[in-house]
Amino acid sequence: MQGEEEDRGTPLALPGGPPIYIQIYEHMRAAIEQGDFRIGERMPSEREIQRRFHVSRMTAQSAYRKLEDMGYVLRHPTQGTFVAARPQWPSAVRKEARFTPSKSWRHLGGHFLEDLMESGSHAYRFDFEVGRPDMDLFPNASMQLLLEDLLTRKPSEVLMYSATAGLPALREAIARRLLPLRGMDRLGVEHVLVTTGAMQAIDLIAKLFIDPDDLVVVERPTFPGAIQRFRAQGARFAEVPVDGGGLDVERLEQVLRDLHPRLIYIQPCAQNPTGATLSAERRKAVLALARDYNVPIVEDDAGGFFADGPGERSLKSDDVDDLVLHIGTFSKLIAPGLRVGYIVAPANIVRLLTSVKQMTDLHTGPIPQLLLEGWLMSSDVPAHVAFARQAYAARLSAALAELEDGPLQPVLRPRAGIYLFCRISSGLPACTLQQRSAEHGVVFAPGDEFSPTGELGDHLRLCVSGLSAASIHVGLRRLKQLLREITSEA
Ligand SMILES: Cc1ncc(COP(=O)(O)O)c(C=O)c1O
Repeated sequence: MQGEEEDRGTPLALPGGPPIYIQIYEHMRAAIEQGDFRIGERMPSEREIQRRFHVSRMTAQSAYRKLEDMGYVLRHPTQGTFVAARPQWPSAVRKEARFTPSKSWRHLGGHFLEDLMESGSHAYRFDFEVGRPDMDLFPNASMQLLLEDLLTRKPSEVLMYSATAGLPALREAIARRLLPLRGMDRLGVEHVLVTTGAMQAIDLIAKLFIDPDDLVVVERPTFPGAIQRFRAQGARFAEVPVDGGGLDVERLEQVLRDLHPRLIYIQPCAQNPTGATLSAERRKAVLALARDYNVPIVEDDAGGFFADGPGERSLKSDDVDDLVLHIGTFSKLIAPGLRVGYIVAPANIVRLLTSVKQMTDLHTGPIPQLLLEGWLMSSDVPAHVAFARQAYAARLSAALAELEDGPLQPVLRPRAGIYLFCRISSGLPACTLQQRSAEHGVVFAPGDEFSPTGELGDHLRLCVSGLSAASIHVGLRRLKQLLREITSEA
């Protein structure tokens, strides 16, 4: 990146951290979000930024360009740079708040998922943004019966406090009825911790294992929620690229050898956002490397039920050395609103994570747990999984067909899963496209949130699970048309 050489050793430079201009961008973005600058206020000039951070003019310019691309500032050709009014972010609210966040949470700049959840409640006609499953594929009728049945139970079962690690009946149902579908059939209740979604699973693991400045290996690109959570813990990142066969194992070995990371966070099966699945050969190599360098692997299997080929079995199913902490969720399979996920890990780690969970939320609500236990025990779960997997695979191939000719190029062409990660051929920043496309009812997730460096701004993620094949065609045609229009205007 420009200016990196001369900037080494500046107050912000973190070895192995993101490029300097991104660090400055993050710093300024946090300041704006915390309300240190008000909407409409003039920002320091590029010269001041140069002086303050001991960086080159190019680096200062790049940081401001990034702030502008992300909608935080507006640049006037002669008058300077001003804080923009961005309706999504709450800086105005924070400015008025009487109390400021603690030092450990001061770099809370990322609220990408917060925005995503919020936009999920708006009705966009072509919503490729949020990774939400299709309600029409849920077993709605049986869920309703199970819910009615719950109301006939003793209030003490449904409404009382319960065990932190999860209701024993649900832990057992997960171990017996769900884990074998991911190739894990040697595991018992003591290996399962029920969490409030996979997001909490990442949170608990980050709290238990990560100290400030620890290095976490992540795929490039990776799941933004994990970046946010590890970053809030003070972690630094080493990115390892993903291709059609999954993680690049040579690069992984280099990172393990040279940088001594604390943790490897990966999605080996139907990855969010690329859909990549680790090949059979590479999964052996990844496990061997983790063993040789003695680094635990966090396997986020949120999309695993929809994976194909070698991804039909989780990485954990081959984990003879107990190196893998496996994260699963009911969110994509059945109902994200129930907020239930789980961690599968060695029993002693489950006990430690249970203590962390106890400090976080005491336990996950018993009503969703009982519902899911009832569903697991009374339904043909493999048939539901196969049905959803097939339905989503058809949607994925509809999207791939629509993107054959276009200004949006999928970086991979997965056959399973619910996501496509695409590069915008013209190099236009996805956030520029996003503003216009939302006005036309088409939304997606901009790519820069999928890397800790924020460098994938000319990429975007499409989630196909919430739309019919027909809507996918119409929505993507509209998106391509807009992209062509904007590019020709520029
Ligand atoms: C890879 C990955 N991990 C974790 C999550 C969070 O899932 P949950 O809804 O179970 O919290 C998601 C949600 O999309 C995801 O894609």
